[in-house]
Amino acid sequence: MCGCLHREVFTGATLSPAEGKKKVPASEEAGYSTARCVAFAVARVFRPGDFTAMQSRGDRLMKSIVVVGAQWGDEGKGKVVDYLAGSFDYIARCAGGHNAGHTVIYDGNRFVLQLIPCGILRPGKHAVIGSGVVVDPVALAAELDTLAKSGIDVTGRLHLSNRAHLIFPYHRQMEKAAEAARGAWKIGTTSRGIGPAYEDKMARHGIRVGDLLNPERFREKLERVIAEKDAVCRATYGVPLDTAGMAEQYLELGERLRPLISDVSVLINHALDAGRSVLFEGAQGTMLDIDFGTYPYVTSSNAISGGVCTGLGVGPTRIDAVAGVTKAYTTRVGSGPFPTEMPDLEATEVRDRGKEYGAVTGRPRRCGWLDLVVLQYAIRINGISSLVVTKLDVFDTQKEIQVCIGYHYKGTPLREMPAAAEDLAEVTPEYATLPGWQSVTYGVQDAAKLPRLAVAYLKFISDFLGVEVGMISTGPDRDATIVCAATQLATWI
Ligand code: IMP
Repeated sequence: MCGCLHREVFTGATLSPAEGKKKVPASEEAGYSTARCVAFAVARVFRPGDFTAMQSRGDRLMKSIVVVGAQWGDEGKGKVVDYLAGSFDYIARCAGGHNAGHTVIYDGNRFVLQLIPCGILRPGKHAVIGSGVVVDPVALAAELDTLAKSGIDVTGRLHLSNRAHLIFPYHRQMEKAAEAARGAWKIGTTSRGIGPAYEDKMARHGIRVGDLLNPERFREKLERVIAEKDAVCRATYGVPLDTAGMAEQYLELGERLRPLISDVSVLINHALDAGRSVLFEGAQGTMLDIDFGTYPYVTSSNAISGGVCTGLGVGPTRIDAVAGVTKAYTTRVGSGPFPTEMPDLEATEVRDRGKEYGAVTGRPRRCGWLDLVVLQYAIRINGISSLVVTKLDVFDTQKEIQVCIGYHYKGTPLREMPAAAEDLAEVTPEYATLPGWQSVTYGVQDAAKLPRLAVAYLKFISDFLGVEVGMISTGPDRDATIVCAATQLATWI
């Protein structure tokens, strides 16, 4: 493999994926167990009797779990969330827009949801779109129509934040012009107007979902924004802004969406108070996060677990655990550095086997080997406590599998993920080579039926990262799933 570093590894052990070892924290290596440190701190701060409030909170049958993408998106979160959703009352999205594509297959039907959390496909479950999401009401209405055609009733179950910002056609228009102006430096966006909508939010001239409910206020705000944008568009790109009929169309859509609109922070916090369980559904992935991704080749929102707090109005103390979803390999769409990207021939094979084409744009995805440096970083940034490995079956015919276990930059090992995309583009991955299992895992539902070498691959990942593998996906169907016994994730179901 083209100038990359390699290390041959063979782990032939027949070990359960549940056996992933936890790394020993530095404090324990130094002779201080974490439990002892905590006990000491608690004894100094609290007196007996002060614990009552804490205990009653601990007694709450609360389950609030975040599911995040640990790579560049498209890890299969849709299927994972759909599977877990059966065990939760609320499924809530906190960031992104209809740039995300979550594919769910069940009963032979394929659903691609872009904006509505895929929990809506489960009867009786509540789906929530948070304030951190940017909403194109035209796209939302189209998704509602598709659900209605499939007989899925969202009445009383779908909730839309009044604080979420709206995407307008001028956002798309300006995004296309901006991408064209970037030339070779283009980001390769999904052209849905996502970035410009978030720009307006941060520049404090965004218009929010709640504004649709007050036509006079909405018209007045829109007029002001349009005047400003038209001037910018003419001066920068030499084209006028096309806004004919926009206000009326949006107000009409606002009336249709009115029953869904509310303060969803109140809704979710009350649900948690009442002992209901909440599954927070991430969009995109860690490496596309606006702050911690491969900036500027990122999306415009916080795709990491912290986005739940800012994008739904839920405090960090209300979140119990974080699951990180990774494919058995890596993909990314759009431009930007990708250290473990495969050469064309291998990438084509994996792309065809894994059907790696964008759910939203249809673009072919770039394919590469699993990158444990990326996963290590994702675990730290998100606080991931359980990993879900998807698309294991795509490697069923693979003779040898490469796994990136480190980066070298200008001849020196890198200990952490570089902040600059330019530096990441120059790293040389160090690989471990593991034997492929060359037998069928497709559709396997029982860990005991996995080939020994597939288990060894999962164990290698779990041991290296010091985090359990809690779930394995062996195919697109709901049933092609293994929940690993005796893991933290198994207790959520
Ligand atoms: P934007 O989100 O449309 O602004 O696109 C910014 C970058 O994020 C581009 O590289 C997109 O391909 C990528 N991106 C956005 N949404 C997704 C997704 O759901 N999966 C994978 N990549 C995405």
